[in-house]
Amino acid sequence: MHKNDITLTMIKPGAVKKNHIGPILGIINENGFRIKAMKLTHLSVDLARKFYAIHEGKPFFDDLISFMSSGPIVAAILEKENAVTDFRALIGATDPDKAEEGTIRKLFAESLSHNAVHGSDSNDNAQIEASFFFNQTEIF
Ligand code: TYD
Repeated sequence: MHKNDITLTMIKPGAVKKNHIGPILGIINENGFRIKAMKLTHLSVDLARKFYAIHEGKPFFDDLISFMSSGPIVAAILEKENAVTDFRALIGATDPDKAEEGTIRKLFAESLSHNAVHGSDSNDNAQIEASFFFNQTEIF
């Protein structure tokens, strides 16, 4: 497997609460991504702060951490050629008002801060984020 063949996604607490796990995974599979690892888990405040450490100090940081630790999430490693780029295209812009029609965020996001899904923004971050959630025995 090449380094640029995986990305890490989270289905965020809002989308899990609204029972959107199934439809979102359906879209992911229909668009050619294979699930290599997956778990339902709940980020503690400390783990959410660690995952989003790059955003510490930004005005939206505290709300982001409280939202991401507010309920269970689905974390998954997805495999596809050009996974990072293609998945960012499939989820759409961070702000659902700016996301293209048919994208996952356009379909399921409630707002900019409650935007349904995460997708890694680089190949390096995909590797780091995959290791954040999964050890080697959990990746297939
Ligand atoms: P960011 O990494 O910029 O976006 P993306 O998730 O598309 O890579 O931001 C991380 C998350 O922080 C984003 O998904 C939602 C939240 N956020 C806000 O609540 N307000 C903001 O102004 C920004 C930029 C992000």
